[in-house]
Amino acid sequence: MKLKIFIPRDAAAVAVGADEVALELELGARKRGVSLELVRTGSRGLYWLEPMLEVSTGAGRIAFGPLTPGDVASVLDAIVADGPHPLRLGLTEQIPWLKRQTRLTFARCGVIDPRSVEDYRAHGGYEGLQRALALSSEAIIDDVIKSGLRGRGGAGFPTGIKWRTVSQADAAQKYICCNADEGDSGTFADRMIMEGDPYMVIEGMTIAGIAVGATRGYIYIRSEYPHAVEAINAAIAGARRAGYLGPGIGRSRHDFDIEVRVGAGAYICGEETAMLESLEGKRGVVRAKPPLPAHKGLFGLPTVINNVLTFAAIPFILAGGAQAYADCGMGRSRGTKPIQLGGNIKHGGLFEVAFGITLGELVDDIGGGTASGRPVRAVQVGGPLGAYFPRELFDTPFDYEAFAARSGLVGHGGIVVFDDTVDMASQARFAFEFCATESCGKCTPCRIGATRGVETMDKVIAGIRPEANLKLIEDLCEVMTDGSLCAMGGLTPMPVMSAITHFPEDFTRAGSLPVAAE
Ligand SMILES: Cc1cc2nc3c(=O)[nH]c(=O)nc-3n(C[C@H](O)[C@H](O)[C@H](O)COP(=O)(O)O)c2cc1C
Ligand code: SF4
Repeated sequence: MKLKIFIPRDAAAVAVGADEVALELELGARKRGVSLELVRTGSRGLYWLEPMLEVSTGAGRIAFGPLTPGDVASVLDAIVADGPHPLRLGLTEQIPWLKRQTRLTFARCGVIDPRSVEDYRAHGGYEGLQRALALSSEAIIDDVIKSGLRGRGGAGFPTGIKWRTVSQADAAQKYICCNADEGDSGTFADRMIMEGDPYMVIEGMTIAGIAVGATRGYIYIRSEYPHAVEAINAAIAGARRAGYLGPGIGRSRHDFDIEVRVGAGAYICGEETAMLESLEGKRGVVRAKPPLPAHKGLFGLPTVINNVLTFAAIPFILAGGAQAYADCGMGRSRGTKPIQLGGNIKHGGLFEVAFGITLGELVDDIGGGTASGRPVRAVQVGGPLGAYFPRELFDTPFDYEAFAARSGLVGHGGIVVFDDTVDMASQARFAFEFCATESCGKCTPCRIGATRGVETMDKVIAGIRPEANLKLIEDLCEVMTDGSLCAMGGLTPMPVMSAITHFPEDFTRAGSLPVAAE
């Protein structure tokens, strides 16, 4: 008997035992005289079901999970006998959580072998590049503009406009930089796609290179992502072997190659100009803008900087999908958003869906509420600089403008859920503390303000003149918002003020933090 089985090598799946399950499977197959083809994929993103195994059948892939090594023998017996099993989840594509999604960016993640360029091509990979090679620079950029794609790193700047600026800049050398620092709390989509479909990121960067006339690219990956570094490096080597990177890519006159650079663990190095400093071998300190990186970026030359997911959206768009992409979404938020559900949530994972879905649908319906079973009290959307939303705002649709209208941000699409045991005053204090720790130190409102914020919050928590100190915090937040050089100090007030506005009751009772009397 022959079996083809898929198990993720995704870091999150490995963290809960995917490697042990894979080993047990190989041993079990040998024992039963079964010929096993084991493919290590990325994750499908249903993390509460990991490690999840899928077996190829005539009807499609059938999933089992979550597995422990101890489950493998009985699962193998059930597969061989085509019988029932308590961990059998049915056809993977029919699992409601997966079926409800619109997977444009994550279509191949968990499906293909991320180490195989042939598998990538067999699933539509490099069709976007082939088409791009036949187009002019302007036509490629027009396609990106037509798709309505906005940067997925957080700020939501229109990608095509950025590319046009770099394309029009006059320079002998230009660069493409992929921001894979992914520092936001509760986010993991960049990691997932780099581990599960790395060729797509490389293809997206290569198309950007052709569009703007750049021949060199860098991927800046955070050091906490060793599996992603390995996967991307393997894919770069594979793309070079297949002629998709290096001189004359895809048998054309275009040259393009990519190198990986590993960060050293600073949140601020995700800010694009600090990332450039770090790429140049310096300390990650924010640069004043202007000049924009599109005019003077890496080594002072015109540079496209985009998030991993922005580049990952490009191959679909260039393969003829610009209109289909633009047809999804709402308002000025076009296409799909890979949303990451995390924190205290029952069904955490990656949910890619068209813009427009509400926060409540995501948290209650799709996420299934809290893992603790207690009521959801607050969610933080958009990373450590994003706002806390109470239940009353759960009708907010996922859309850049709708979130901004409610003093929040969509950011990189991370949602972190808290139950009713959360203390929002501590969360507000944490926002200041995080900023104090991660500030690059270049400007005073952030460097000094964050520390003063922690001290003042400590007084509020200790019940020392809470009203006066909350007023002080409000003033401080105004200064940080208006006076900070970058969004690190400029947005720290967002979690602070949203916590104070929506959960005022947590700021007026004396807490237990030991603070010296004023
Ligand atoms: C403090 C701070 C941290 C950031 N971290 C990231 C990050 O980890 N990844 C990212 O893509 N963008 C991050 N950004 C946004 C980048 O500065 C930049 O807007 C983005 O990489 C541009 O790509 P996009 O247009 O594709 O979104 C951060 C911004 C700030 C202010
Ligand atoms: S706001 Fe903070 S992180 Fe940004 S430049 Fe100023 S000190 Fe640096």
